[in-house]
Amino acid sequence: MPINLPNNQARDDVLAGRPALWLNPNLKQDGIWDTKLPVRPSRVSEAESNWMLIASLLEKCFPELKATGGKIESALIEVSPMREALGYSSSEFGRIFVKADNDLPVAGSIQARGGVYEVFMYAKALAESQGIISSEKEVDRLVSEEANALFSKHTIAVGSTGNLSLSVGIAARALGFQAVVHICSEAKDWKVDRLTRLGVKVVRHNADYSGAIDLARAQAEADINTYFIDNERSQTLFFGYSAAANELASQLSKAHITVDDNHPLFVYLPCGIGGAPGGASYGLKAIFGNAAHTFFVEPVQSPSALVHMMSGSSEQVSVYDAGMNNKTEADAIAVPRMSEFVAEVMKPLLSGVFTVVDDDLFRWLWIAQTQQSIRLEPSATAGFAGPKFIVNSPQGHAYLEQHGLREKIANATHVVWTTGGAFVPEEQFTKFMERGASLVKDS
Ligand SMILES: Cc1ncc(COP(=O)(O)O)c(C=O)c1O
Repeated sequence: MPINLPNNQARDDVLAGRPALWLNPNLKQDGIWDTKLPVRPSRVSEAESNWMLIASLLEKCFPELKATGGKIESALIEVSPMREALGYSSSEFGRIFVKADNDLPVAGSIQARGGVYEVFMYAKALAESQGIISSEKEVDRLVSEEANALFSKHTIAVGSTGNLSLSVGIAARALGFQAVVHICSEAKDWKVDRLTRLGVKVVRHNADYSGAIDLARAQAEADINTYFIDNERSQTLFFGYSAAANELASQLSKAHITVDDNHPLFVYLPCGIGGAPGGASYGLKAIFGNAAHTFFVEPVQSPSALVHMMSGSSEQVSVYDAGMNNKTEADAIAVPRMSEFVAEVMKPLLSGVFTVVDDDLFRWLWIAQTQQSIRLEPSATAGFAGPKFIVNSPQGHAYLEQHGLREKIANATHVVWTTGGAFVPEEQFTKFMERGASLVKDS
């Protein structure tokens, strides 16, 4: 499909496959919530209550959650030891943190926040419809024999590059559902092996991410006992992720970090289809309003959110339409077409999107592991480019100027959301580290 992109530096950079920073011209400052959006911010607090409701159940299903009373949460880690290696030693970069979803329990990635949530919400609805539970107080009965017998006759299906499949597969099997995951050609073998060991049926499609979802959706629609978790359209997934914002807000508050107009919060989130970064951003805007500046990050060859949102098109624009090939080592975010739903919701809320080259992903992966023992997969490192883009690039300067932040940027808190990595097998991780080490040595 032919696309129309505005004539500016970000367009030139993105089309040339160079790292680009695109600023969203539709970002709203005033009356954000007056905009007619398909969803309301009250859904964020609803999701937080739902997470609390299922916490005891999660603790029963996943013993690793004992320590947190059933909460699936990650640490907020200041990156002081690696600032120099990242090129961030100067005080103009304010304070820099990692939101360590790479180490998130249950599924080892940010996708635990969406996938586990939607599986448990579906299980609850199904059990209610069959009279197994009649009030929220009885939610623990979702792990009863009766519920298990019901769930075993139902299938939960999902299409993804891997991490959402892991999260959905783990949660579905824990409750006794059948699970089918449809994966695309980019999905890594170790993710497939892990799913197969869990008893999940894996259907590998000779298609890209978007194609695999289309095929998965069509197959699920043909079977009334299959519930399809639709990564492109699901509001439940989106709000599952959104509850992460409150977790981050409490951690910032505990660390005595102020977020307000004079102390801006910049958050950088790796983006595939957009659900995870969109949900977390939406939650942050609901809490902090204009003081939160959220950016998506994508590989230079898979800038699906950047090209779609930049085009302003009401039809889905893919990276192929813009001449990109969707080839990247960042398999978890190798997505050619972003979610239309997320694009619509984020239109007035997202500050911008930037892109990164694969070599940098491996450099950051190596630095994070060697300097602070933070174990990442390549996709999960993309946000480390954020502070440099904001503080040093012409587009970053334009953004600071537009928002009256030029004088305040040294007061900023930057949060690099590291979204996955804990489950990467040792052999694979060693290869990532070798590549990172050789790049760091050569630079
Ligand atoms: C490690 C990691 N980071 C980021 C993302 C992006 O999430 P989404 O596809 O919802 O944009 C994913 C998605 O699977 C992921 O696995």
